[in-house]
Amino acid sequence: MAGRVDLSVELAGVTLRNPIVAAAGTCGYVNEFSRVLDPAELGALVTKSITRESREGNPPWRIVDVPRGMLNAIGLANVGLDEFIATKAPQALETDTVVIGSIAGACVEDYVAVAAAFDAVEGIPLVELNVSCPNTADGLQFGEHPDALRALLHEVRPALARTRMIVKLSPNVGDIVAMARAAIEQGADVLTLINTVSAMAIDVESRQPRLSRGTGGLSGPAIHPIAVRMVHAVYDAIARDARVPIIGLGGVMSWQDAAEMILAGASAVGMGTALFVDPRSPLRVRRGLEKWVRRQGCASVAELRGAVEM
Ligand SMILES: Cc1cc2nc3c(=O)[nH]c(=O)nc-3n(C[C@H](O)[C@H](O)[C@H](O)COP(=O)(O)O)c2cc1C
Repeated sequence: MAGRVDLSVELAGVTLRNPIVAAAGTCGYVNEFSRVLDPAELGALVTKSITRESREGNPPWRIVDVPRGMLNAIGLANVGLDEFIATKAPQALETDTVVIGSIAGACVEDYVAVAAAFDAVEGIPLVELNVSCPNTADGLQFGEHPDALRALLHEVRPALARTRMIVKLSPNVGDIVAMARAAIEQGADVLTLINTVSAMAIDVESRQPRLSRGTGGLSGPAIHPIAVRMVHAVYDAIARDARVPIIGLGGVMSWQDAAEMILAGASAVGMGTALFVDPRSPLRVRRGLEKWVRRQGCASVAELRGAVEM
């Protein structure tokens, strides 16, 4: 009779009881999510991205269904930093799991201010920088240009005295390894790959874009193979040797998708769109992963990280 499989994983010295991470923007401020699934069943939850000021986000439609995924342009709707710290963070921290704070901004100073405030919250061991935001100074996204990413992280890193820094990479680049290298050089402790893929859908009768903003981010099964490719490329080229763990994210709906991420080099596996389809799907994925690790003859999921045979 095989013994218990160890599903725990380490992210920069923080232990997750299993590899499954509820992705930013898909489990609210954490507390709402606990009504449908006990957060203790997950390895970690990431809050929706918090900005210095509160934001209404974009007008409707800001989420639309597309074949094999969904397209969103939420526009970073959130209560803002002060309200988050005063009311949302204490509720999130009542849950028995690792809470990761997500940070977004329109300029470097915004990120630094939110990072410093999160760093002062006891109980948030990791923050994740959502760098898929345009810098109002030049209109360019921080996460789409290595130099812009370097400049941002150079300022944010010193604001994090206690908290470990996760950098969430955008797939909307030509060279994902160059972005990962920039992040690691500037002190990223963990990488998350990937954010949504830039996309557009058009209503052919009205001849208008289906999203109010015109374009948005594609998530779900349609992007899964893109995410696997990027996780593998970054793991192989830099993250394995630099010992920087990866949270593999993008279209994970089943345990097989999660196992692919681990074989590609991910330490942990994010789930976003899957939570909209079935918020309890992480339980199925966790059970399937456990059986798979055992079938592979391993005692721990960590043994299978990066084990794809090429
Ligand atoms: C409705 C929605 C809202 C999102 N909001 C955020 C956000 O606030 N911050 C962030 O970093 N990513 C956000 N994301 C991106 C997800 O965290 C994730 O990177 C992406 O959806 C790919 O994973 P998936 O295919 O499992 O959904 C959002 C995604 C969706 C679908």
